[in-house]
Amino acid sequence: MSAGIVPVDAAAIARAAALLRSGELVAFPTETVYGLGADAGNADAVRRIFAAKGRPADHPVIVHLAAPVDAAHWARAVPDAARRLAEAFWPGPLTLVLPRAAHVSDAVTGGQDSVGLRVPSHPVARALLAAFRGGVAAPSANRFGRISPTTARHVADDLGDGVALILDGGACDVGIESTIVACLGDDPVLLRPGGIGIDRLTRVLGRAPRTAAAEAPRASGTLASHYAPKTPATLVAPDALHAEIRQLAARDERIAVLARTVARRGEGAGAWVQAPADAAAYAHELYASLRALDAAAADVILIEAVPEGPAWLAVRDRLARATRGEDDDRD
Ligand code: TXA
Ligand code: MG
Repeated sequence: MSAGIVPVDAAAIARAAALLRSGELVAFPTETVYGLGADAGNADAVRRIFAAKGRPADHPVIVHLAAPVDAAHWARAVPDAARRLAEAFWPGPLTLVLPRAAHVSDAVTGGQDSVGLRVPSHPVARALLAAFRGGVAAPSANRFGRISPTTARHVADDLGDGVALILDGGACDVGIESTIVACLGDDPVLLRPGGIGIDRLTRVLGRAPRTAAAEAPRASGTLASHYAPKTPATLVAPDALHAEIRQLAARDERIAVLARTVARRGEGAGAWVQAPADAAAYAHELYASLRALDAAAADVILIEAVPEGPAWLAVRDRLARATRGEDDDRD
């Protein structure tokens, strides 16, 4: 076990809460991905997150809460739609963007008039929040532009000495980030698909949330930047995958593949991760698989496209981001 990573017991939780109280950063597991936490009530501590991640300071961070009732402290209004979503999905992988309360610092909101709130369900996150007794501002615990971490080791590889303590809660269940819904007016808006599927949101809201990109109050994504994974990654239709591999192999390209289908012997792919057929299992493994393929010293990562349909929405979103030259959500 490397410096910084600690197994979770009562003493580790107490130490982590004390570090947060003194303005230090603590990485902790949630059911989605690992978070890099700071005391959300301490603007200097929150600013440290941006330094550790190498992230622009005008990007907002999600405030993690111990209990749904705490939302009233951080939001100046909790519209009816938000209340229903919170009742249905908290604790769990849902973030609600609500009108911010006056005391919430610009370091947390990125200067916007809204604040992102989430009550995580992971037992370690819950124990930490209960011990700390305050809001914990936490983005995913990766360097800006890199793949979100789903194990303590991923966090240590990315952030190293930039974090005082990493609580090791094993691999994250969901494996991709929370669903983000903005509830600022009458009309809930899906800002990011994630751990809670759109069909479940629709059942609770009585209608599908609007999906928006351009008008959403979110961090600007126009910065050109390096990209995660570092190896160029391309989406390929399932029926074109094997021909594409043979063609690249004929040009001596080193190929790494993420696909739900099985590898064919002798075809030319150097590394092959076979992904689960089921969407939830696929999401659970996705980021660890991308990290492994990125480490395979390939010239290109080919990713077999996944099915259409609502069950795969969040996975399709992450694959699209992973295969674009420039991303609009590298937080
Ligand atoms: O599952 C998750 O949500 C994980 C775990 C650690 O909770 N957190 C996470 O945080 O993914 P981060 O910072 O990597 O991504 C959060 C996204 C960012 O794109 C940020 O711009 C957006 O949420 N966001 C946060 N507050 C917002 C706000 N007030 N308005 C609009 N977007 C917001
Ligand atoms: Mg992130």
